[in-house]
Amino acid sequence: MNDEPRPKNLVFELNGQPVQVADVGDTLLGVLRGELRVRSVKDGCSPQGQCGCCTVLVDGEPRVACVTPARRVAGRSVTTVEGLEPERAERWGTRFCETGGSQCGFCTPGIVMRLEALERKGVARNDIARNDDVARNDDVARNDTAPVDQALLAHLCRCTGWQTIKDAWAHDGTRSESRDLDAASRRGTLEGGAPQLVSPEVALGAGGFAADTAPDGALIAVPNGTGEWSLGTSLQAARAAAGKVQGRRTTAEHRWPIELPDDGGRPWAFTLQTTWVEPGYLETDAAWCEPGGEPASPLANGGAFGGKVDSIVGRAARMLADQHERPVLALFSREDVVRWGPKRPPVAAGIRADGTGTIVIADAPGVEAAIAAVAPDLTVELVDLDGPTCSSAIRAAGWAEALVLSQAVNGVNGWITAPNGSAAKASVSDGVITIGVRCGEVLDAVVLRSYCIGAAHMAYSWVTSEALTVDDQGEVHDLTIRSFGIVRAIDMPRVEVELVEDDQPAVNGSDAVFAAVAGAVWAHHGFAPRWPTGTDGMMSP
Ligand code: FES
Repeated sequence: MNDEPRPKNLVFELNGQPVQVADVGDTLLGVLRGELRVRSVKDGCSPQGQCGCCTVLVDGEPRVACVTPARRVAGRSVTTVEGLEPERAERWGTRFCETGGSQCGFCTPGIVMRLEALERKGVARNDIARNDDVARNDDVARNDTAPVDQALLAHLCRCTGWQTIKDAWAHDGTRSESRDLDAASRRGTLEGGAPQLVSPEVALGAGGFAADTAPDGALIAVPNGTGEWSLGTSLQAARAAAGKVQGRRTTAEHRWPIELPDDGGRPWAFTLQTTWVEPGYLETDAAWCEPGGEPASPLANGGAFGGKVDSIVGRAARMLADQHERPVLALFSREDVVRWGPKRPPVAAGIRADGTGTIVIADAPGVEAAIAAVAPDLTVELVDLDGPTCSSAIRAAGWAEALVLSQAVNGVNGWITAPNGSAAKASVSDGVITIGVRCGEVLDAVVLRSYCIGAAHMAYSWVTSEALTVDDQGEVHDLTIRSFGIVRAIDMPRVEVELVEDDQPAVNGSDAVFAAVAGAVWAHHGFAPRWPTGTDGMMSP
């Protein structure tokens, strides 16, 4: 006979209906995604409480579910995207889809709930500074960014660069009849480097993520730090079995792990040292598999910018499903992504005034060829570093750095050409980043613009703010998603985009934008020899 006391029940209202669950000490996120199978509420960093993907309304107030104990909502009312009136949900989906405020869509349901709370409080949708392209026909004032910027402080988005989310807030919810969402999805797929669906439903959480589509009853497997996986019937149980404490913060300093190359004692015209950078995608690696089946892709709707190309979760899910003869969902936590996911390789480089020079870069298969494709006058030296794995699949790895150096000697305002033939230019003036991009048939201006702004955000953030702390033994110290330095909405300069249509086949354009903006921001920061340069208000005129 089992003498264990049976857990008490917890009763609360979910989306207008009473629900009862066992009180086993889980978080609200664990209960919503686990027992109650609510899929719009995403887990981007639990239990860190830093990304906002799991934001829900508790008695009408936005709450981050991964740091809210479930028992705290006893007797209260919880609302998720699924509980919005259908017309309101559709309107939110349309607002994000029509503005490009959602790409992979992983962060969006949490942001929708945050903005829903803002709207319910009576904050008018015109209380922001909006992008002229999207809101040019609106005659409202555009001088108060405070409410939305404040609201977005609790969130992270890796794809959109924030501006299009603010556009979504400002949008009136009218769907464009003439827009071709198939063409939009084709453009999204080119830019994201993985199949991407563009639709209002994606913004409401239906991006088809593996952690959402795993079959009922699948075991959950998490890495336990010994090279093995720990399994449980819930995420809470799997993590307990792994015995892990999530979310350590660091007090260690960044370091630049590669010495500058020597040019026979002569000074270089420009030098640059970077450190490891975490891709920082919001949807952590996840894949599920039936015994004897093919694993679901960890890239359901794009969004990782090369970060999951070689993810191990699919192979793990297949192996464990065969071993346990039942479906298994293999899932990384945020900390797992930081520890074991690939990073942008650090460089140390010097370039002469004639464009020749040397770039020393952490070894990653393919990175030497990527640099040679855009900068044949640079000598490439590969080094092995103690530290996390580096990958040339990360957005423009190596070749963006080479183009940035070339821009330093050739001038930063001209067009640069990416290995795929796309071209971009960027400039920084009066606190605004201005971009031009030419990448074949535009296909869908909303999506291409969104990707360009997202690339500008990623580049600006990389040059000024982002780095991953790795100690002398190669151990990663920054394990929380806020510790990488991703620039927040409130700190992001405005971006203006010119899309140049041409009659060539459509190719990815945002990677070229990424390189061009990095060069322009670096120039604006006086070609500081180490990244991150620090923001320090340097975008001000
Ligand atoms: Fe925000 Fe992808 S749309 S993280």
